[in-house]
Amino acid sequence: MPIPKAELHLHIEGTLEPELAFELAARNGVELPYADTEELREAYSFDDLQSFLNLYYSLMRVLRTEDDFAALADAYLARAAAQGVRHAEIFFDPQAHIARGVPMGTVVEGLGRALATSEERHGVSTRLIMCFLRDESAESALLTLEAARPYLDRITGIGLDSAEVGHPPAKFRAVYEAAAALGLRRVAHAGEEGPPAYITEALDVLGVERIDHGLRALEDPALVARLVRDRVPLTLCPLSNVRLRAVEALEDHPLRAMMDAGLVCTVNSDDPAYFGGYADDTLLAVRGALGLERERVRELARNSFVASFLEDDEPRRARYLSEVDAYTFPES
Ligand code: ADE
Ligand code: ZN
Repeated sequence: MPIPKAELHLHIEGTLEPELAFELAARNGVELPYADTEELREAYSFDDLQSFLNLYYSLMRVLRTEDDFAALADAYLARAAAQGVRHAEIFFDPQAHIARGVPMGTVVEGLGRALATSEERHGVSTRLIMCFLRDESAESALLTLEAARPYLDRITGIGLDSAEVGHPPAKFRAVYEAAAALGLRRVAHAGEEGPPAYITEALDVLGVERIDHGLRALEDPALVARLVRDRVPLTLCPLSNVRLRAVEALEDHPLRAMMDAGLVCTVNSDDPAYFGGYADDTLLAVRGALGLERERVRELARNSFVASFLEDDEPRRARYLSEVDAYTFPES
């Protein structure tokens, strides 16, 4: 039995497995430039973030209807449950769909349908986080927030993703201020490929509560001291970092050094259909590569619930944490 955990950095579009992509392509009459799932999988070799994003956005063309989004999310939740995920905070990229003529309502209603039955079907509680594409304009982000207004009862927070370098957080000050005024929680990708200054800016200008990735934080000791002092969680994605060549090999990942520095680290799967592992696969892989002790793994699992957007007084949070504390690791 895998250790109970929360997944806090997961792009639902990044859970689109080749089999489902072909099924949806056939259902929706979308032509894919690959003969079969095997040929598609062979395309999963990336030089950097942008080379991945090109395929990620292109494959989304198969997602057209509410049913498609519901099927995508339900398939993820079933997989996540089998990997010990008890709580999932799920990103989605509405601009990538709206640009293709798929309205906000189709996306949110579809995802929302799967999320509404998740506890009952899979035993996984959920939150939905709407991300803005940072390589699109600030005006587009504001329009997207406006389009989401009818659905805010189903959206817990906002995030910022896509191509990082050259698109600093400050560009999105206005939309983050507007979202905060609406009571939305705030996170942002920062320090994945971009410099540590982007992490500082996300905290100072966007008021984020968690940093997605934060991989390059160690380059700035003053920033590390601040993140430790303020207990700002980082949602690290080690398999993603290897596949997108932010680190050369899993053995070189700074996770252990970051934990040693006192940072509140969590381990997540980012885009598991593309990067070779869901939540527990990822945890087992880093544990093996870095030789993490069991108590270190337990600390990561605890952090995932502590850093979640479950309300502090929600009995579920305490229940999940006591499950982590009571967990016994299998002999290996
Ligand atoms: N969108 C999906 N995955 C992403 C990642 N790892 N970084 C930035 N944007 C993304
Ligand atoms: Zn991400």
